[in-house]
Amino acid sequence: MELRLEENPVAVDHGHPDRLHLTLHAGGVHWLADPGTGSYVARELFWYRSTLAHNAPRLDGQPQPTGDATCECFDEQDGWAWVRGRFGNVARTVVAGPPAAYMVDVVELTGREFALLHTLALEAGKVLSLDDLIQASDLVVEASTQAHLREEIAPKTLGAGKDLVVLSCGGLLGRQDWVDLAAAKRCRILVPSAAIAGLDGVKGASVGAISAVTMETRKPPRGLVGAPWIEQQKIDLDAITHETLIFEGTATDACRAFPANVNVVAALSLAGIGPEKTRIRIFASPEAELNRHRITVQGEFGRLAIEIENVPSENPRTGRLSYLSTIALLRDLSATLRVGT
Ligand SMILES: NC(=O)c1ccc[n+]([C@@H]2O[C@H](COP(=O)([O-])OP(=O)(O)OC[C@H]3O[C@@H](n4cnc5c(N)ncnc54)[C@H](O)[C@@H]3O)[C@@H](O)[C@H]2O)c1
Repeated sequence: MELRLEENPVAVDHGHPDRLHLTLHAGGVHWLADPGTGSYVARELFWYRSTLAHNAPRLDGQPQPTGDATCECFDEQDGWAWVRGRFGNVARTVVAGPPAAYMVDVVELTGREFALLHTLALEAGKVLSLDDLIQASDLVVEASTQAHLREEIAPKTLGAGKDLVVLSCGGLLGRQDWVDLAAAKRCRILVPSAAIAGLDGVKGASVGAISAVTMETRKPPRGLVGAPWIEQQKIDLDAITHETLIFEGTATDACRAFPANVNVVAALSLAGIGPEKTRIRIFASPEAELNRHRITVQGEFGRLAIEIENVPSENPRTGRLSYLSTIALLRDLSATLRVGT
């Protein structure tokens, strides 16, 4: 169990109205999370900066004003620990005990004036099982792993007749049975452009004849850590000092070899000439700060070249454009004016 009560003075903090924010991670589950930094980028994610989203106490429905929180006391004895912090009239005491099994969170309003006190912990709803969550949803966005998509998310979501947006789209390759299931259940499988641009052009081109689709991907070596191909080939990423070709093959093989790194080529192949004909070369590039993809398409329409440099998100394997593009796809679903193929 990891438990953290935030009481930083505002001057040394990151400027969020989140004094007395509580984080709880236990038994492999992030029960109360710090929503993190994705929220600095997209306006739609600004809510995650807020007092409530940070599971910090809020008075009278207003975000916290600026000011410092203080730690009033803390102690640890015989495996039990407790801490008490204060921000203005609000005090928060958290007690945790052995064997990582108990946590008590007490939020007190200590002022004389009546005020409406909110915290997310006090308001926290029940945790739904995946089945119940799918039933309660109109649409499911998968941003997990190919294995999770295969084993649970796709069969359960499509089986329930709910639309499914897939980020781990390498897991879609060869799964005509899921397309058939979606058709039978009258729902859809949607694949955002995510880390690349230009799928609109590739789709247009594929209405006519395409002779070749090739992709080159360059990633900092740390963005390839843990991939099955790296482990099988015993590639020492730390020893790579200059740009090195580490894989060349079809989209099908690449998605097996790098299931968490090059889902992007699966989307490209599905938009174009399929995973057996779409080819990719993957480079580990110590000079690269950014994830770079270069796509070339040749066909009766002419020639298309797309180059993109993606700023990584908190996850070095995943570029920020991936989630921005997913938000754009969700917006398009209800847009009255849609631009792009
Ligand atoms: N198509 C694209 O262009 C594109 C772009 C970016 C990311 N992706 C893919 O999207 C997926 C998500 O990317 P990310 O950066 O958010 O990954 P991430 O590793 O940051 O997050 C994945 C989350 O899924 C959770 N998870 C995994 N298995 C689970 C299970 N069985 N039950 C419950 N939770 C589970 C993990 O705990 C983690 O929190 C990856 O497969 C990635 O390769 C695709």
